[in-house]
Amino acid sequence: LGAMLFLLVLYLFYSGSWFEVRRAEPPGPRPLPLLGNIHQMDLKKPHHTLCELSKKYGSVFTVHFGPKKVVVLAGYKTVKDALVNHAQDFGDRDITPMFYDVNEGHGIIFSNGDSWKEMRRFALTNLKDFGMGKKGAEEKILEEIPKLIEVFEKFGGKAFDPTQPVNYAASNIISSIIYGSRFEYNDPQFQGMVERDNETTHLFGSASIQIYNMFPRLGPWLKNWRSIMNNVEINKKELKELVQGLRETLNPQMCRGFVDSFLIRKQEDANTVDSLYHEDNLMHSVFNLFGAGSETTSTTIRWGLLLMAKYPHIQDLVQEEITRVIGGHQPLVEDRKNLPYTDAVIHEIQRLANIVPMSIPHATSRDITFQGYFIKKGTCVIPLLTSVLHDEGEWESPQTFNPAHFLDEQGRFIKKEAFMAFSAGRRVCLGESLARMELFLFFTSLLQRFHFSPPPGVTEDDLDLTPAVGFTLVPLPHQLCAVSRV
Ligand code: HEM
Repeated sequence: LGAMLFLLVLYLFYSGSWFEVRRAEPPGPRPLPLLGNIHQMDLKKPHHTLCELSKKYGSVFTVHFGPKKVVVLAGYKTVKDALVNHAQDFGDRDITPMFYDVNEGHGIIFSNGDSWKEMRRFALTNLKDFGMGKKGAEEKILEEIPKLIEVFEKFGGKAFDPTQPVNYAASNIISSIIYGSRFEYNDPQFQGMVERDNETTHLFGSASIQIYNMFPRLGPWLKNWRSIMNNVEINKKELKELVQGLRETLNPQMCRGFVDSFLIRKQEDANTVDSLYHEDNLMHSVFNLFGAGSETTSTTIRWGLLLMAKYPHIQDLVQEEITRVIGGHQPLVEDRKNLPYTDAVIHEIQRLANIVPMSIPHATSRDITFQGYFIKKGTCVIPLLTSVLHDEGEWESPQTFNPAHFLDEQGRFIKKEAFMAFSAGRRVCLGESLARMELFLFFTSLLQRFHFSPPPGVTEDDLDLTPAVGFTLVPLPHQLCAVSRV
């Protein structure tokens, strides 16, 4: 028997099968040549298909998007294990052809290596100074809230679509952090910026752009690709003009925002060979902050208002808590700790809405063995955030809007690690604290002021929570009534 075992080991070793066994890749559906598994994917809701596949193939599996091999991570335990316990290994970004066309490897979101590290660090420090540093951001948000309330009030309780005003309000927060000042809602330049941003985010998630990422030669033939590239050209031209205006009035003693800070740093680095503070990194960091910072927040606020209209008993409880704890005063960040129910509702809105269902694709930074599977360096990895936010092992009723997911028996707010709306680890959302502050202040201020309900003739049951799928999951077009409570 010993000799036979010895011969078997010898055979496996020399035939290469030994390495095959040791280097087992994550399982997955058999791919077709060229097409991979796209015939099995619902390209309008790829996150759904991936959740279904994880039931069959487990929490680490392989799918082929056309010829491209992708490893999917599913469920809280596995996503945490990868992004947190193996943060470095899973911390690179997979830069798909579309994202490369848009950002050319510069900026923060779609970059890697030293440039990413430096731009992320610089953005974080500056956002602290001009935005996230509690006071700065809070003041900017408090300045914006009355403008949004004014627009809502103009409808006098009649049905309207809140999308545009909410978009403008959220975009203004990040704009004032970037440029040092907000825009008026009727400024055509600002309207164009916001509209193009929303359109681009939506198109990123379209089936044709996913096809483009698999077969990049198709680009010029695809209408959505041309629309995105057209938006990029307009954005670049406009941004150059805005930056020029700031450059001409730059005063290093009075830094107005992110762009000023970058320009000052660029001047300081004037004699540094290979400085990372160049025009491309400035432009693409600004695009990234605006792109990642406006649509995400406004979409979440819109989900919040829609859910309040759909579940009036929950809206009543939020309003009761706001009235009892802060009365008619302007809600401030420091009030959050005294509003556990409202805090739980905001978390539950984010959990259920699950607006970035497949996160932003990561890549492995080296050859690794993870949970027994071999994954090659540079492999695209999708942390399936839907499967975390709706993980049956972590949430009592994952598909139901249930604020009790974040409350203990005494009604105190409880943090949940499986709440990964902002992802986790090395690439965790850079705007998380700003976004949380915005969501809390906008949500409480709006609910303090208005009662939200479906338009006349529409019942709460009629309000549809099916998302329109783009790169983010947004509510389908709808109208609401905002009836003044004061
Ligand atoms: C990345 C969610 C608001 C800036 C991300 C990622 C998610 C996310 C899921 C991907 C993380 C990963 O790759 O693992 C959200 C949600 C928001 C929000 C749900 C609002 C409700 C913001 C805001 C900003 C921002 C306000 C701007 C200050 C970024 C940036 C990245 C990012 C720059 C890329 C980080 C990197 O690659 O290093 N966000 N985000 N986000 N977010 Fe956010």
